[in-house]
Amino acid sequence: MAGAASAADLTVGFSQIGSESGWRAAETSVTKQEAEKRKVDLKFADAQQKQENQIKALRGFIAQGVDAIFIAPVVETGWDTVLQEAKDAEIPVILLDRGVKASPDLYMTVVASDQVHEGKVAGDWLVKDVGDKTCNVVELQGTTGSSPAINRKKGFEDAIASHANIKITRSQTGDFTRAKGKEVMEGFLKAENGGKNICALYAHNDDMAVGAIQAIKEAGLKPGTDIKVVSIDAVPDIFQAMAAGEANATVELTPNMAGPAFDALEKFKADGTLPPKQIITESKLYTQADDPMKVYEEKKGLGY
Ligand code: AHR
Repeated sequence: MAGAASAADLTVGFSQIGSESGWRAAETSVTKQEAEKRKVDLKFADAQQKQENQIKALRGFIAQGVDAIFIAPVVETGWDTVLQEAKDAEIPVILLDRGVKASPDLYMTVVASDQVHEGKVAGDWLVKDVGDKTCNVVELQGTTGSSPAINRKKGFEDAIASHANIKITRSQTGDFTRAKGKEVMEGFLKAENGGKNICALYAHNDDMAVGAIQAIKEAGLKPGTDIKVVSIDAVPDIFQAMAAGEANATVELTPNMAGPAFDALEKFKADGTLPPKQIITESKLYTQADDPMKVYEEKKGLGY
């Protein structure tokens, strides 16, 4: 409902997925900082990677009568009923960093990157880097059923589609975590002649790449040289790996999804203006040529 005098009048429920990655932890800190700055009363719920916990949290927020709900949805499907409940209660819902497969009139807007584009940027980098050489790629996917896992896979596949010399030979989920990224990479290395048949790793986030880099080193190979590493997020740790020559490229995802979300909400509450259905954040490519330690220092202040 329009008419709140200022952000200070607002109570917002935020259902966060969990803390599977460095990026996710930064998004949580930035959201809390943004709420504090704007004097929004933020009710925070950590779902520990479970959709059922997110649905429970949303129902709790609806029962409390919050002014709005922010949700980073762990997977794409299964939201229709609870989103309808929020709509019936006239509570606007804003999706942060991931999309859902539900009717767009069940939420106000989604603040996220273009995830297909992110995958494409990563794939285009590899295409350029390998040139005409044959390149077998192993892929670490994000959480199964999540929009970034689905879309980043598609974008990368689109980028390499017309380059017959580049093929994805193995692809498995690493659930966006460092530990799983390492474990799955160990399996890839074993299955691919100790890693000698692998030219590049594409990881759907930096945390899985960092775990995989460890596995590559333990297998006696040089990450960044023997196996090229390209991933997504641009968390500080990947810049340290780049500075050490152990990672090659990353695509930046801002952890500040909450800023544009609060802006849109405040405007709506003030005068009823509805934001566009999608608020798209930038996807910038970083490589070893971008002074990784300088970027590392800059990133450290931004919620990481
Ligand atoms: O939805 C964004 C993705 O979720 C990030 O790339 C990843 O690190 C996180 O867990």
